Amino acid sequence: MSTTGSRALGAPLYRVEGRAKVTGAARYAVEASVPDAAYAWPVPATVARGAVTAVHCGEALAEPGALAVLTHENAPRLRETEDANLAVLQSPAVAHRGQVVALAVAETLEAARSCAAAVRVEYAELPHDAEFRGDHPGLYTPGEVNGGYPTDRERGGFDAAYAASPVQFDASYHTPPLHNHPMEPHASVAEWDGGRLITRDSDQGSSDARKTLAALFGLDPRDVLVVAEHVGGGFGSKGIPRPQLVLAAMAALVVQRPVKLALPRSLLPALTGHRAPTAQRVRIGADRDGRISALAHEVATCTSTLVEFVEQAAVPARLMYTSPHSRTTHRVVALDLPTPSWMRAPGECPGMFALESAMDELAEVCGVDPVELRIRNEPAAEPDSGRPFSSRGLVDCLREGARRFGWHDRDPRPGVHREGRLLLGTGVAAATYPVYVNPCAAEARAESGDRFTVRINATDIGTGARTVLAQIAADALGVPADAVRAEVGRSDLPDASVAGGSSGTSSWGWAVHKAGRELRRLLDQDHGGAVPSGGLAVVADTTEDVAAGREYARHAFGAQFAEVQVDTATGEVRVRRMLGVFAAGRILNPRMARSQFIGGMTMGLGMALLEGSTVDPRFGDDVERDLSAYHLPTCADVPDIEAHWVDEDDPHLNPMGSKGIGEIGIVGAAAAVANALHHAVGHRFRSLPVRPDTVL
Ligand code: MOS
Repeated sequence: MSTTGSRALGAPLYRVEGRAKVTGAARYAVEASVPDAAYAWPVPATVARGAVTAVHCGEALAEPGALAVLTHENAPRLRETEDANLAVLQSPAVAHRGQVVALAVAETLEAARSCAAAVRVEYAELPHDAEFRGDHPGLYTPGEVNGGYPTDRERGGFDAAYAASPVQFDASYHTPPLHNHPMEPHASVAEWDGGRLITRDSDQGSSDARKTLAALFGLDPRDVLVVAEHVGGGFGSKGIPRPQLVLAAMAALVVQRPVKLALPRSLLPALTGHRAPTAQRVRIGADRDGRISALAHEVATCTSTLVEFVEQAAVPARLMYTSPHSRTTHRVVALDLPTPSWMRAPGECPGMFALESAMDELAEVCGVDPVELRIRNEPAAEPDSGRPFSSRGLVDCLREGARRFGWHDRDPRPGVHREGRLLLGTGVAAATYPVYVNPCAAEARAESGDRFTVRINATDIGTGARTVLAQIAADALGVPADAVRAEVGRSDLPDASVAGGSSGTSSWGWAVHKAGRELRRLLDQDHGGAVPSGGLAVVADTTEDVAAGREYARHAFGAQFAEVQVDTATGEVRVRRMLGVFAAGRILNPRMARSQFIGGMTMGLGMALLEGSTVDPRFGDDVERDLSAYHLPTCADVPDIEAHWVDEDDPHLNPMGSKGIGEIGIVGAAAAVANALHHAVGHRFRSLPVRPDTVL
């Protein structure tokens, strides 16, 4: 296959580090061999709210191999930080169960665990409130919601239009707390070299991690190095630095040795964020043909007392459907729980579960096919802003998905499709995710012998960043993709934005493309196309490019289809088929894109049927803290899953023409499964997850 120049983009190349990963040669953060490293283990708070009154370390320090116990009394002082979750061991206050109240440091991992277990902590306990309810009296109106979106939006007059509508639909939906649980738990290694801080971290953005560490420890950012060479997933939970990075750096300062700190999985829920639960009310006023006049999406969610984090779940209702009269609102309550945080398609994922379930219900009420209902309510421009869409492939995705799935043969009657003791059903839902892009810098270098290197502090969270960036550079340079090597994953490379918000490839790629083009121009103009001895390098920055082009509304879209079977004796649900079709601009590497889409869809299946945490309000704690209790879908749960895409040629995005693909795969997937379940058994599932005890 020729992959030169423009053909490099769109080629289904394998990940360049694939062999290193499957042979175990690839090293993740704490796997680095670090001579003389000590090990740390956290001591979590055992009360939900209060203050530490005493920490007894005598027995802990008497453990064999014990080196130190850090507490709020003796830990190094940090500078002020915006993220109160990073102010670890700075005060005796306890804001949630599981918060770190001490850190044991010892010669070995086992010794560190024993040392931590021997630390005795006394508390002054205060009453706590850890129970989220959609009508919680503490709900308030935040200044804005995540993503910088306005908290409330009202267009037209919802109340009057709803009251005047021939069809009035009103239902509430609930999503539970969800946990990211990447395969590699959060882990860091820290080492001080004089006044320099050198870390290895499992994160989605080490440019940010460097900035945060420099601020916390009062260092020049040039004296901080964060290496994130390979990262075993994050799904948003590694999008910002987490306490283990700061704790490792503090411990290394205290014991004057490198320190490794890998969080046990059981502490991820308390220390690394989660998707907040939501209670969402959707009201739709429509005519008898399902044409929407009035749409209200009202979201209640919760945050912690440490940081205000507001899941923007009503935001997709601002752009999905024609709705001349619209109200979208968010309310939040601060509880004595860990701070919620980013989890794959934050906002869109829970919000579209509610909206797309409601659309399915409306279709049934109006007797309109659910695919057709969505097409009927397709807006000409983004409803809230009035801006034209740069491209909007929803209808194409719905039609292509319906064709591939075999939707047109569907008998819409629910609860009548039997196969022995099984009931069968099919469902559909729409997906959307915004196009985010962030400024980055990148260097493109022509080495001798027609080899090229691009350097940028992108992070490969398992998505194949090195591979796609080489493809993008090859496109810009007009060379084969295998002539380019991408160096990523170190904060001393040119600054790059986080691998989050499905913005990574577009953001990094734009800078890489710009540097590559500039390098090609210089080579051709000044060097007759040849590489001068000693090579030639160009650095590009996209700050100005990214700031332009705000006149278009830019979103990816998709359509999700699912077929389920329900065992009427046991309530067991099997998802027989999932099929997604996405419109996400130009697909830069089909092999890796497919993997992103089906990963998202699988996670949506988990959200529909398996995942969800139960907070015990008496303890202020998640009951499910490891993978034996928090169930994730396995291959056996996903027998048949297909991802396709429609080609989009959108000139209003970036030089590659790409939209993000990391998150849209999960959006709508849970609604498609829940809608299929309704089609199978005949009643509605408005609360996730749907487990055997609630299905029949
Ligand atoms: Mo994604 S939740 O922005 O990593």
